[in-house]
Amino acid sequence: MAKPRKSYVCQSCGATFPKWSGQCEACGEWNTLVEEVVADVPRGLSRGSGRGRRIPLTDLGGVPGDAPRLKTGISEFDRACGGGLVPGSAVLVGGDPGIGKSTILLQAVSRLAMSGVKTVYISGEEATAQVQMRAGRLGLDKAPVRLGTETSLRDILATLEGESDVEAVVIDSIQTMFVDNLESAPGTVAQVRATAQELIRFAKKRGIALLLVGHVTKDGQIAGPRVLEHMVDTVLYFEGERGHQFRILRAVKNRFGGTDEIGVFEMTDRGLKEVPNPSALFLGNRDKAVSGAAVFAGMEGSRPMLVEIQALVASSSLGTPRRAVVGWDSGRLAMILAVLDARSGLGFGAQDVYLNVAGGLKVTEPAADLAVAAALVSALADRPLAEDTVVFGEVGLSGEVRPVAHAAQRLREAEKLGFTRAIMPGRVRGVDARLQRSEIGHIYELVELIAGPASRA
Ligand code: TYD
Ligand code: MG
Repeated sequence: MAKPRKSYVCQSCGATFPKWSGQCEACGEWNTLVEEVVADVPRGLSRGSGRGRRIPLTDLGGVPGDAPRLKTGISEFDRACGGGLVPGSAVLVGGDPGIGKSTILLQAVSRLAMSGVKTVYISGEEATAQVQMRAGRLGLDKAPVRLGTETSLRDILATLEGESDVEAVVIDSIQTMFVDNLESAPGTVAQVRATAQELIRFAKKRGIALLLVGHVTKDGQIAGPRVLEHMVDTVLYFEGERGHQFRILRAVKNRFGGTDEIGVFEMTDRGLKEVPNPSALFLGNRDKAVSGAAVFAGMEGSRPMLVEIQALVASSSLGTPRRAVVGWDSGRLAMILAVLDARSGLGFGAQDVYLNVAGGLKVTEPAADLAVAAALVSALADRPLAEDTVVFGEVGLSGEVRPVAHAAQRLREAEKLGFTRAIMPGRVRGVDARLQRSEIGHIYELVELIAGPASRA
Protein backbone atom coordinates (compact mmCIF):
# COMPACT_ATOMS: atom_id res chain seq x y z
CA MET A 1 0.00 0.00 0.00
CA ALA A 2 1.19 3.50 -0.85
CA LYS A 3 2.53 5.49 2.06
CA PRO A 4 0.02 8.10 3.17
CA ARG A 5 1.30 11.65 3.22
CA LYS A 6 -0.05 14.85 4.67
CA SER A 7 -1.39 17.60 2.46
CA TYR A 8 -3.57 20.60 2.75
CA VAL A 9 -6.90 20.27 1.02
CA CYS A 10 -9.20 23.18 0.23
CA GLN A 11 -12.57 22.35 1.78
CA SER A 12 -14.27 24.47 -0.81
CA CYS A 13 -12.90 23.29 -4.15
CA GLY A 14 -10.91 20.18 -3.26
CA ALA A 15 -7.52 21.43 -4.53
CA THR A 16 -4.51 20.01 -2.66
CA PHE A 17 -1.32 21.82 -1.65
CA PRO A 18 1.86 20.66 0.04
CA LYS A 19 1.91 23.74 2.30
CA TRP A 20 -0.68 25.59 4.31
CA SER A 21 -1.66 29.09 3.23
CA GLY A 22 -4.41 31.49 4.21
CA GLN A 23 -6.00 31.60 0.79
CA CYS A 24 -6.64 28.75 -1.64
CA GLU A 25 -4.72 29.48 -4.84
CA ALA A 26 -7.19 27.50 -6.90
CA CYS A 27 -10.52 29.06 -5.95
CA GLY A 28 -9.48 32.14 -3.98
CA GLU A 29 -11.42 31.22 -0.82
CA TRP A 30 -9.90 32.19 2.52
CA ASN A 31 -9.25 29.86 5.46
CA THR A 32 -10.40 26.75 3.67
CA LEU A 33 -7.16 24.71 3.72
CA VAL A 34 -7.25 21.82 6.15
CA GLU A 35 -4.58 19.22 6.81
CA GLU A 36 -5.60 15.80 5.55
CA VAL A 37 -3.96 12.49 5.02
CA VAL A 38 -3.94 11.66 1.35
CA ALA A 39 -2.94 8.36 -0.20
CA ASP A 40 -0.82 8.65 -3.32
CA VAL A 41 -2.96 6.40 -5.46
CA PRO A 42 -6.69 6.73 -6.03
CA ARG A 43 -8.25 5.47 -2.84
CA GLY A 44 -10.84 2.77 -2.52
CA LEU A 45 -11.80 -0.22 -0.49
CA SER A 46 -11.35 -2.72 -3.22
CA ARG A 47 -8.11 -2.38 -5.11
CA GLY A 48 -6.37 -5.08 -7.07
CA SER A 49 -2.90 -5.15 -8.49
CA GLY A 50 -1.20 -6.47 -11.60
CA ARG A 51 -2.23 -6.17 -15.22
CA GLY A 52 -5.55 -4.72 -16.24
CA ARG A 53 -8.28 -6.94 -17.59
CA ARG A 54 -9.79 -6.43 -21.03
CA ILE A 55 -13.19 -4.80 -20.90
CA PRO A 56 -15.90 -5.52 -23.45
CA LEU A 57 -16.54 -2.67 -25.91
CA THR A 58 -19.94 -2.21 -27.57
CA ASP A 59 -21.87 -0.05 -30.06
CA LEU A 60 -23.67 3.16 -29.22
CA GLY A 61 -27.02 1.65 -30.15
CA GLY A 62 -28.63 -1.12 -28.22
CA VAL A 63 -30.74 0.48 -25.49
CA PRO A 64 -34.33 0.57 -26.69
CA GLY A 65 -35.79 3.94 -25.71
CA ASP A 66 -35.19 5.72 -22.43
CA ALA A 67 -34.06 3.88 -19.34
CA PRO A 68 -37.09 3.01 -17.22
CA ARG A 69 -37.43 5.38 -14.30
CA LEU A 70 -38.53 4.88 -10.75
CA LYS A 71 -41.41 7.24 -10.20
CA THR A 72 -42.17 8.19 -6.63
CA GLY A 73 -45.63 9.45 -7.49
CA ILE A 74 -44.77 12.75 -5.81
CA SER A 75 -45.02 14.59 -9.09
CA GLU A 76 -43.10 17.68 -7.99
CA PHE A 77 -40.21 15.45 -6.89
CA ASP A 78 -40.30 13.39 -10.07
CA ARG A 79 -40.37 16.55 -12.14
CA ALA A 80 -37.25 17.96 -10.46
CA CYS A 81 -35.45 14.65 -11.16
CA GLY A 82 -36.39 14.92 -14.82
CA GLY A 83 -39.23 12.40 -14.66
CA GLY A 84 -38.24 10.00 -11.91
CA LEU A 85 -35.10 8.34 -10.56
CA VAL A 86 -32.82 6.56 -13.00
CA PRO A 87 -31.54 3.13 -11.89
CA GLY A 88 -27.75 3.11 -11.59
CA SER A 89 -27.54 6.86 -11.10
CA ALA A 90 -26.57 9.10 -8.21
CA VAL A 91 -28.53 12.12 -7.09
CA LEU A 92 -27.17 14.70 -4.67
CA VAL A 93 -29.78 16.55 -2.64
CA GLY A 94 -28.18 19.64 -1.13
CA GLY A 95 -29.58 22.31 1.11
CA ASP A 96 -29.34 24.17 4.41
CA PRO A 97 -29.69 22.16 7.60
CA GLY A 98 -33.33 21.96 8.65
CA ILE A 99 -34.74 22.84 5.25
CA GLY A 100 -36.43 19.45 4.84
CA LYS A 101 -34.01 17.16 2.98
CA SER A 102 -34.52 14.17 5.26
CA THR A 103 -38.27 14.72 5.22
CA ILE A 104 -38.64 14.84 1.44
CA LEU A 105 -36.37 11.82 0.92
CA LEU A 106 -38.18 9.77 3.54
CA GLN A 107 -41.44 10.64 1.83
CA ALA A 108 -40.01 9.82 -1.61
CA VAL A 109 -38.59 6.39 -0.68
CA SER A 110 -41.69 5.51 1.32
CA ARG A 111 -43.84 6.13 -1.73
CA LEU A 112 -41.43 4.04 -3.81
CA ALA A 113 -41.53 1.27 -1.24
CA MET A 114 -45.31 1.28 -1.16
CA SER A 115 -45.36 0.81 -4.92
CA GLY A 116 -43.23 -2.32 -4.53
CA VAL A 117 -39.72 -0.93 -5.06
CA LYS A 118 -37.18 -2.27 -2.57
CA THR A 119 -35.67 0.70 -0.75
CA VAL A 120 -33.10 1.22 2.00
CA TYR A 121 -32.71 4.39 4.07
CA ILE A 122 -29.42 4.82 5.91
CA SER A 123 -29.27 7.64 8.41
CA GLY A 124 -25.94 8.71 9.86
CA GLU A 125 -27.43 11.67 11.65
CA GLU A 126 -30.45 10.42 13.52
CA ALA A 127 -31.12 7.48 15.77
CA THR A 128 -33.47 4.74 14.62
CA ALA A 129 -36.20 5.93 16.97
CA GLN A 130 -35.95 9.47 15.67
CA VAL A 131 -36.46 8.39 12.08
CA GLN A 132 -39.29 6.09 13.15
CA MET A 133 -40.92 8.95 15.02
CA ARG A 134 -40.75 11.15 11.96
CA ALA A 135 -42.17 8.36 9.81
CA GLY A 136 -45.01 8.06 12.31
CA ARG A 137 -45.74 11.75 12.15
CA LEU A 138 -45.76 11.64 8.36
CA GLY A 139 -48.10 8.64 8.40
CA LEU A 140 -45.47 6.51 6.67
CA ASP A 141 -44.74 3.98 9.43
CA LYS A 142 -46.39 1.23 7.41
CA ALA A 143 -44.20 1.78 4.34
CA PRO A 144 -41.86 -1.19 3.78
CA VAL A 145 -38.65 0.89 3.81
CA ARG A 146 -35.62 -0.87 5.32
CA LEU A 147 -34.04 1.50 7.82
CA GLY A 148 -30.48 1.50 9.10
CA THR A 149 -28.50 3.92 11.23
CA GLU A 150 -24.78 3.72 10.54
CA THR A 151 -21.84 5.85 9.46
CA SER A 152 -19.19 3.25 8.58
CA LEU A 153 -19.19 2.85 4.83
CA ARG A 154 -17.63 -0.61 5.06
CA ASP A 155 -20.58 -1.83 7.14
CA ILE A 156 -23.12 -0.08 4.94
CA LEU A 157 -21.74 -1.64 1.76
CA ALA A 158 -21.59 -5.07 3.41
CA THR A 159 -25.23 -4.66 4.41
CA LEU A 160 -26.32 -3.57 0.96
CA GLU A 161 -24.35 -6.46 -0.63
CA GLY A 162 -26.41 -8.79 1.51
CA GLU A 163 -29.77 -7.32 0.56
CA SER A 164 -30.87 -8.63 -2.80
CA ASP A 165 -32.83 -6.57 -5.35
CA VAL A 166 -32.35 -3.21 -3.63
CA GLU A 167 -33.44 -0.56 -6.13
CA ALA A 168 -33.15 2.72 -4.26
CA VAL A 169 -30.86 3.79 -1.41
CA VAL A 170 -30.80 7.02 0.60
CA ILE A 171 -27.60 8.05 2.40
CA ASP A 172 -28.40 10.80 4.92
CA SER A 173 -25.94 12.49 4.93
CA ILE A 174 -22.73 11.98 2.98
CA GLN A 175 -20.91 14.24 5.47
CA THR A 176 -21.42 11.76 8.29
CA MET A 177 -20.02 8.77 6.39
CA PHE A 178 -16.44 7.57 6.66
CA VAL A 179 -14.11 4.95 5.28
CA ASP A 180 -11.78 3.50 7.88
CA ASN A 181 -8.65 3.47 5.71
CA LEU A 182 -8.55 7.25 5.69
CA GLU A 183 -7.30 9.10 8.73
CA SER A 184 -9.22 12.31 8.16
CA ALA A 185 -12.48 13.05 9.97
CA PRO A 186 -15.93 12.51 8.43
CA GLY A 187 -17.07 15.56 6.49
CA THR A 188 -13.63 16.48 5.17
CA VAL A 189 -13.12 16.61 1.43
CA ALA A 190 -11.07 13.42 1.46
CA GLN A 191 -13.76 11.45 3.31
CA VAL A 192 -16.68 12.87 1.36
CA ARG A 193 -14.92 12.13 -1.91
CA ALA A 194 -13.92 8.62 -0.94
CA THR A 195 -17.29 7.59 0.49
CA ALA A 196 -19.23 9.09 -2.40
CA GLN A 197 -16.96 7.36 -4.90
CA GLU A 198 -17.45 3.95 -3.27
CA LEU A 199 -21.21 4.42 -3.01
CA ILE A 200 -21.57 5.61 -6.59
CA ARG A 201 -19.44 2.74 -7.89
CA PHE A 202 -21.61 0.30 -5.96
CA ALA A 203 -24.82 1.92 -7.21
CA LYS A 204 -23.70 1.82 -10.86
CA LYS A 205 -22.63 -1.80 -10.58
CA ARG A 206 -25.91 -2.90 -9.03
CA GLY A 207 -28.25 -0.57 -10.94
CA ILE A 208 -29.37 1.19 -7.78
CA ALA A 209 -30.79 4.70 -7.69
CA LEU A 210 -28.63 6.38 -5.07
CA LEU A 211 -29.77 9.50 -3.22
CA LEU A 212 -27.10 11.37 -1.28
CA VAL A 213 -27.95 14.11 1.18
CA GLY A 214 -25.36 16.89 1.35
CA HIS A 215 -25.37 19.78 3.77
CA VAL A 216 -24.57 23.24 2.56
CA THR A 217 -22.15 25.55 4.31
CA LYS A 218 -23.08 29.10 5.25
CA ASP A 219 -21.81 30.55 2.00
CA GLY A 220 -24.02 28.29 -0.06
CA GLN A 221 -21.74 25.42 -1.01
CA ILE A 222 -22.03 21.83 -0.07
CA ALA A 223 -19.37 21.38 2.56
CA GLY A 224 -16.33 19.91 0.96
CA PRO A 225 -17.48 19.18 -2.40
CA ARG A 226 -17.95 21.02 -5.47
CA VAL A 227 -16.02 17.84 -6.10
CA LEU A 228 -19.18 15.92 -5.24
CA GLU A 229 -21.21 17.81 -7.83
CA HIS A 230 -18.93 16.43 -10.55
CA MET A 231 -19.24 12.88 -9.34
CA VAL A 232 -23.01 12.56 -9.30
CA ASP A 233 -25.42 12.51 -12.23
CA THR A 234 -27.98 14.87 -10.81
CA VAL A 235 -27.70 17.75 -8.36
CA LEU A 236 -30.86 18.98 -6.68
CA TYR A 237 -30.87 21.92 -4.31
CA PHE A 238 -33.59 22.23 -1.76
CA GLU A 239 -34.12 25.90 -1.11
CA GLY A 240 -36.51 28.23 0.62
CA GLU A 241 -36.59 30.81 3.33
CA ARG A 242 -36.90 29.48 6.87
CA GLY A 243 -39.80 31.83 7.60
CA HIS A 244 -41.75 30.79 4.51
CA GLN A 245 -43.55 27.52 4.17
CA PHE A 246 -42.55 27.10 0.51
CA ARG A 247 -39.69 24.82 -0.42
CA ILE A 248 -38.26 24.55 -3.88
CA LEU A 249 -36.36 21.56 -5.18
CA ARG A 250 -34.23 22.83 -8.04
CA ALA A 251 -32.24 20.75 -10.51
CA VAL A 252 -28.93 22.49 -11.17
CA LYS A 253 -27.36 19.57 -12.99
CA ASN A 254 -29.03 16.60 -14.58
CA ARG A 255 -27.51 14.05 -16.93
CA PHE A 256 -30.96 12.56 -17.44
CA GLY A 257 -33.19 15.58 -17.82
CA GLY A 258 -33.47 19.33 -18.03
CA THR A 259 -31.85 21.65 -15.53
CA ASP A 260 -33.69 24.53 -13.94
CA GLU A 261 -36.65 22.22 -13.46
CA ILE A 262 -38.16 22.89 -10.09
CA GLY A 263 -40.57 21.13 -7.79
CA VAL A 264 -42.55 23.28 -5.38
CA PHE A 265 -43.56 22.08 -1.92
CA GLU A 266 -45.21 23.46 1.13
CA MET A 267 -43.91 22.47 4.59
CA THR A 268 -46.83 21.44 6.76
CA ASP A 269 -47.06 19.67 10.10
CA ARG A 270 -47.50 16.43 8.15
CA GLY A 271 -44.42 16.83 5.99
CA LEU A 272 -43.95 18.33 2.57
CA LYS A 273 -47.00 18.73 0.37
CA GLU A 274 -46.80 19.19 -3.37
CA VAL A 275 -47.92 22.46 -4.84
CA PRO A 276 -49.20 21.61 -8.30
CA ASN A 277 -50.08 25.19 -9.26
CA PRO A 278 -47.31 27.40 -7.87
CA SER A 279 -48.37 30.57 -9.67
CA ALA A 280 -51.63 30.67 -7.76
CA LEU A 281 -49.68 30.17 -4.54
CA PHE A 282 -47.06 32.83 -5.19
CA LEU A 283 -49.74 35.31 -6.14
CA GLY A 284 -52.05 34.08 -3.40
CA ASN A 285 -52.38 37.02 -1.05
CA ARG A 286 -51.71 39.90 -3.35
CA ASP A 287 -52.90 43.34 -2.40
CA LYS A 288 -55.12 45.20 -4.81
CA ALA A 289 -53.14 47.47 -7.14
CA VAL A 290 -50.48 49.09 -4.99
CA SER A 291 -47.57 51.05 -6.36
CA GLY A 292 -44.26 49.24 -6.57
CA ALA A 293 -45.67 45.82 -7.44
CA ALA A 294 -45.44 44.07 -10.81
CA VAL A 295 -46.36 40.51 -11.72
CA PHE A 296 -43.56 38.82 -13.64
CA ALA A 297 -44.53 36.11 -16.10
CA GLY A 298 -41.52 33.87 -15.59
CA MET A 299 -40.36 30.40 -16.55
CA GLU A 300 -38.87 27.88 -14.16
CA GLY A 301 -37.40 25.16 -16.34
CA SER A 302 -40.19 24.04 -18.62
CA ARG A 303 -42.94 25.50 -16.48
CA PRO A 304 -44.38 29.00 -16.60
CA MET A 305 -44.71 30.67 -13.23
CA LEU A 306 -46.10 34.03 -12.22
CA VAL A 307 -44.45 35.83 -9.32
CA GLU A 308 -44.93 39.21 -7.80
CA ILE A 309 -41.95 41.58 -7.76
CA GLN A 310 -42.14 44.29 -5.13
CA ALA A 311 -40.11 47.47 -4.97
CA LEU A 312 -39.94 50.17 -2.35
CA VAL A 313 -38.24 53.47 -3.03
CA ALA A 314 -37.67 55.97 -0.22
CA SER A 315 -35.54 59.09 -0.05
CA SER A 316 -32.29 58.22 1.65
CA SER A 317 -30.71 59.81 4.66
CA LEU A 318 -27.40 58.12 3.87
CA GLY A 319 -24.51 59.37 1.79
CA THR A 320 -24.60 56.13 -0.17
CA PRO A 321 -28.23 55.06 -0.53
CA ARG A 322 -29.16 51.51 0.42
CA ARG A 323 -29.81 48.84 -2.16
CA ALA A 324 -31.34 45.71 -0.68
CA VAL A 325 -32.50 42.72 -2.74
CA VAL A 326 -34.21 39.49 -1.79
CA GLY A 327 -34.70 36.81 -4.47
CA TRP A 328 -32.87 38.54 -7.30
CA ASP A 329 -29.31 39.42 -8.29
CA SER A 330 -28.11 42.68 -6.75
CA GLY A 331 -25.74 43.36 -9.66
CA ARG A 332 -28.65 43.07 -12.05
CA LEU A 333 -30.66 45.52 -9.93
CA ALA A 334 -27.80 48.02 -10.08
CA MET A 335 -27.81 47.63 -13.85
CA ILE A 336 -31.56 48.25 -14.21
CA LEU A 337 -31.30 51.30 -11.95
CA ALA A 338 -28.42 52.68 -14.04
CA VAL A 339 -30.31 52.07 -17.28
CA LEU A 340 -33.43 53.79 -15.92
CA ASP A 341 -31.26 56.66 -14.77
CA ALA A 342 -29.29 57.10 -17.96
CA ARG A 343 -31.90 56.23 -20.59
CA SER A 344 -35.12 57.58 -19.18
CA GLY A 345 -33.96 60.30 -16.82
CA LEU A 346 -35.62 58.88 -13.73
CA GLY A 347 -33.46 59.67 -10.71
CA PHE A 348 -32.91 56.90 -8.17
CA GLY A 349 -29.59 58.44 -7.09
CA ALA A 350 -30.72 59.79 -3.73
CA GLN A 351 -33.20 57.01 -3.02
CA ASP A 352 -32.97 53.87 -0.94
CA VAL A 353 -34.20 50.98 -3.09
CA TYR A 354 -35.57 47.70 -1.76
CA LEU A 355 -36.53 44.86 -4.07
CA ASN A 356 -38.27 41.67 -3.06
CA VAL A 357 -39.49 38.61 -4.93
CA ALA A 358 -42.62 37.56 -3.07
CA GLY A 359 -43.02 34.07 -1.65
CA GLY A 360 -39.34 33.30 -1.18
CA LEU A 361 -38.66 32.37 -4.80
CA LYS A 362 -35.28 33.15 -6.36
CA VAL A 363 -35.59 34.54 -9.87
CA THR A 364 -32.59 34.20 -12.18
CA GLU A 365 -34.02 34.90 -15.64
CA PRO A 366 -33.01 38.06 -17.52
CA ALA A 367 -36.64 38.13 -18.64
CA ALA A 368 -37.45 39.57 -15.21
CA ASP A 369 -35.63 42.82 -16.07
CA LEU A 370 -38.70 44.56 -17.41
CA ALA A 371 -40.87 43.49 -14.49
CA VAL A 372 -38.24 44.78 -12.06
CA ALA A 373 -38.06 48.04 -14.00
CA ALA A 374 -41.86 48.28 -13.93
CA ALA A 375 -41.96 47.76 -10.16
CA LEU A 376 -39.22 50.38 -9.67
CA VAL A 377 -40.86 52.97 -11.91
CA SER A 378 -44.22 52.34 -10.29
CA ALA A 379 -42.71 52.75 -6.83
CA LEU A 380 -40.84 55.94 -7.69
CA ALA A 381 -43.80 57.55 -9.45
CA ASP A 382 -46.25 56.15 -6.90
CA ARG A 383 -48.44 54.91 -9.75
CA PRO A 384 -49.77 51.37 -9.43
CA LEU A 385 -49.87 49.09 -12.45
CA ALA A 386 -53.29 47.80 -13.40
CA GLU A 387 -53.65 44.71 -11.22
CA ASP A 388 -54.49 42.39 -14.10
CA THR A 389 -51.16 43.06 -15.85
CA VAL A 390 -48.16 40.76 -16.29
CA VAL A 391 -44.72 41.96 -17.37
CA PHE A 392 -41.72 40.25 -18.97
CA GLY A 393 -38.76 41.15 -21.20
CA GLU A 394 -35.01 41.59 -21.09
CA VAL A 395 -33.51 45.07 -20.82
CA GLY A 396 -30.21 45.94 -22.52
CA LEU A 397 -27.69 48.58 -21.50
CA SER A 398 -28.91 51.05 -24.10
CA GLY A 399 -32.41 50.75 -22.67
CA GLU A 400 -33.72 48.53 -25.46
CA VAL A 401 -36.25 45.88 -24.50
CA ARG A 402 -35.48 42.51 -26.01
CA PRO A 403 -37.70 39.55 -26.79
CA VAL A 404 -37.29 36.48 -24.58
CA ALA A 405 -38.01 32.81 -25.11
CA HIS A 406 -41.34 31.09 -24.35
CA ALA A 407 -43.51 34.20 -24.78
CA ALA A 408 -46.50 32.09 -25.76
CA GLN A 409 -46.27 29.92 -22.65
CA ARG A 410 -45.91 32.92 -20.37
CA LEU A 411 -48.97 34.57 -21.86
CA ARG A 412 -51.01 31.38 -21.70
CA GLU A 413 -50.27 30.96 -18.00
CA ALA A 414 -51.21 34.60 -17.36
CA GLU A 415 -54.45 34.16 -19.25
CA LYS A 416 -55.23 31.00 -17.31
CA LEU A 417 -54.90 32.90 -14.04
CA GLY A 418 -57.20 35.70 -15.12
CA PHE A 419 -54.75 38.35 -16.27
CA THR A 420 -55.91 40.46 -19.20
CA ARG A 421 -52.94 42.68 -20.04
CA ALA A 422 -49.27 42.14 -20.77
CA ILE A 423 -46.39 44.59 -20.95
CA MET A 424 -43.83 42.84 -23.11
CA PRO A 425 -41.26 43.22 -25.88
CA GLY A 426 -42.41 43.79 -29.46
CA ARG A 427 -41.57 41.58 -32.44
CA VAL A 428 -42.95 38.50 -30.73
CA ARG A 429 -44.61 36.27 -33.32
CA GLY A 430 -46.69 33.17 -33.18
CA VAL A 431 -48.58 34.10 -30.03
CA ASP A 432 -52.33 33.70 -30.06
CA ALA A 433 -53.19 34.76 -26.51
CA ARG A 434 -56.15 37.07 -26.12
CA LEU A 435 -54.42 39.36 -23.64
CA GLN A 436 -54.23 43.01 -24.48
CA ARG A 437 -50.58 43.60 -25.25
CA SER A 438 -48.52 46.72 -24.71
CA GLU A 439 -45.44 46.06 -26.79
CA ILE A 440 -42.41 48.00 -25.71
CA GLY A 441 -39.16 48.56 -27.60
CA HIS A 442 -37.38 50.87 -25.18
CA ILE A 443 -37.38 51.45 -21.46
CA TYR A 444 -38.66 55.05 -21.79
CA GLU A 445 -41.88 53.69 -23.27
CA LEU A 446 -42.32 51.74 -20.03
CA VAL A 447 -41.78 54.90 -18.01
CA GLU A 448 -44.36 56.75 -20.11
CA LEU A 449 -46.80 53.90 -19.84
CA ILE A 450 -46.63 53.74 -16.04
CA ALA A 451 -45.76 57.25 -14.93
CA GLY A 452 -47.21 59.27 -17.83
CA PRO A 453 -45.40 61.26 -20.53
CA ALA A 454 -44.71 64.26 -18.28
CA SER A 455 -42.40 62.26 -16.07
CA ARG A 456 -39.64 62.05 -18.66
CA ALA A 457 -36.85 64.48 -18.16
P1 TYD B 1 -35.45 17.89 8.03
O1 TYD B 1 -36.03 17.05 6.95
O2 TYD B 1 -34.97 17.21 9.26
O3 TYD B 1 -34.31 18.84 7.47
P2 TYD B 1 -32.84 18.45 6.93
O4 TYD B 1 -32.77 16.98 6.75
O5 TYD B 1 -32.74 19.22 5.63
O6 TYD B 1 -31.87 18.98 7.92
O7 TYD B 1 -36.56 18.97 8.39
C1 TYD B 1 -36.58 19.53 9.60
C2 TYD B 1 -37.54 20.69 9.67
O8 TYD B 1 -38.79 20.44 9.08
C3 TYD B 1 -37.79 20.98 11.12
O9 TYD B 1 -37.53 22.35 11.35
C4 TYD B 1 -39.22 20.63 11.33
C5 TYD B 1 -39.84 20.67 9.98
N1 TYD B 1 -40.90 19.67 9.78
C6 TYD B 1 -42.20 20.10 9.66
O10 TYD B 1 -42.51 21.29 9.75
N2 TYD B 1 -43.19 19.16 9.46
C7 TYD B 1 -42.93 17.84 9.37
O11 TYD B 1 -43.85 17.02 9.20
C8 TYD B 1 -41.57 17.41 9.50
C9 TYD B 1 -41.19 15.96 9.43
C10 TYD B 1 -40.58 18.36 9.70
MG1 MG C 1 -31.65 15.66 7.92
